[in-house]
Amino acid sequence: MNFQTVLDQIDAEIRPLLGAAGKVASYIPALARVPAGRFGIALRTRDGEEARAGDADEAFSIQSVSKLFTLMLAMRCLGEGLWERIGREPSGNPFNSLVQLEFEAGRPRNPFINAGALAVADRLVTQARVGGGDGDGGVARDARDDILALMSDLAGEAIGFDAEVAASEAATGFRNVALVNFMKSFGKIDNDVADVLAMYFHQCAIRMSCVQLARAAGFLCRDGAHPLTPGRGEAHAVVTDRQARRINALMLTCGTYDAAGDVAFSIGLPCKSGVGGGIVAVVPDRLTLCVWSPALDAAGNSLLGLKALELFVAKTGLSVF
Ligand code: DON
Repeated sequence: MNFQTVLDQIDAEIRPLLGAAGKVASYIPALARVPAGRFGIALRTRDGEEARAGDADEAFSIQSVSKLFTLMLAMRCLGEGLWERIGREPSGNPFNSLVQLEFEAGRPRNPFINAGALAVADRLVTQARVGGGDGDGGVARDARDDILALMSDLAGEAIGFDAEVAASEAATGFRNVALVNFMKSFGKIDNDVADVLAMYFHQCAIRMSCVQLARAAGFLCRDGAHPLTPGRGEAHAVVTDRQARRINALMLTCGTYDAAGDVAFSIGLPCKSGVGGGIVAVVPDRLTLCVWSPALDAAGNSLLGLKALELFVAKTGLSVF
């Protein structure tokens, strides 16, 4: 299949629609000023073939796409222990909702809603503080350094935070402040609320392009093997193949907020979206794909990003179903 031709066709079909519908996230100035007319798409196959079109090299705020990578890091460090405090069910509620947490005693439904990602951030802060998991045994680290090191390693180049976005997230993130405090009141957060929030606000503020994200997520189509090494098997694993399959399952069922059922129905690929307009999608055993277009639908998913994924599936016939 000539993927470059497919992506060029998608770009040509999407471009006339840019700016006509959807709303760019406006809760912070740095996101509100991103032009609605941007569109990028990139993919990388399990064997390292790449294709890209449109604004695929332009960096954007990855926002909740980061939740897939913090989950991966926490699964790798904590194994099954992670699930003591976080569920694996779709929430059916908006990503920043508080209501379910009250009924469910501070245990978030899944790691991709804000409450779940904050619970994951708490575990990563602990791992870094005690020098566990990825680092040199016993030396205390900052979890924000851990996530940047992971993203840079997976993407094969230096990845950074957008300091303005991180500061704005902190200045306006009242619901996230409420969510961590609420979970802490149930005894479900171990660290200082401020440390957990600092980690979460920074992970939301990571800047990457479609090309970088398609590369970084590559372990999801390679049985957990590092995206950029030709080798497979345990020696090259960043997570086990079972963990990679489970992350894909969670992306399919919970990765696009309360629209996950619709996305599974219309696209049929594991996806993780963010309010910066990015969506990472996986064709297991074949390729990873990233689309970006900043105008969002009512659920907070990129309107034309989803449309582009629908076109991709229609043109290639690739789907998990
Ligand atoms: O934390 C927030 O609410 C924003 N930074 C939005 C994150 C996002 O992309 C949506 N989350 N699931």
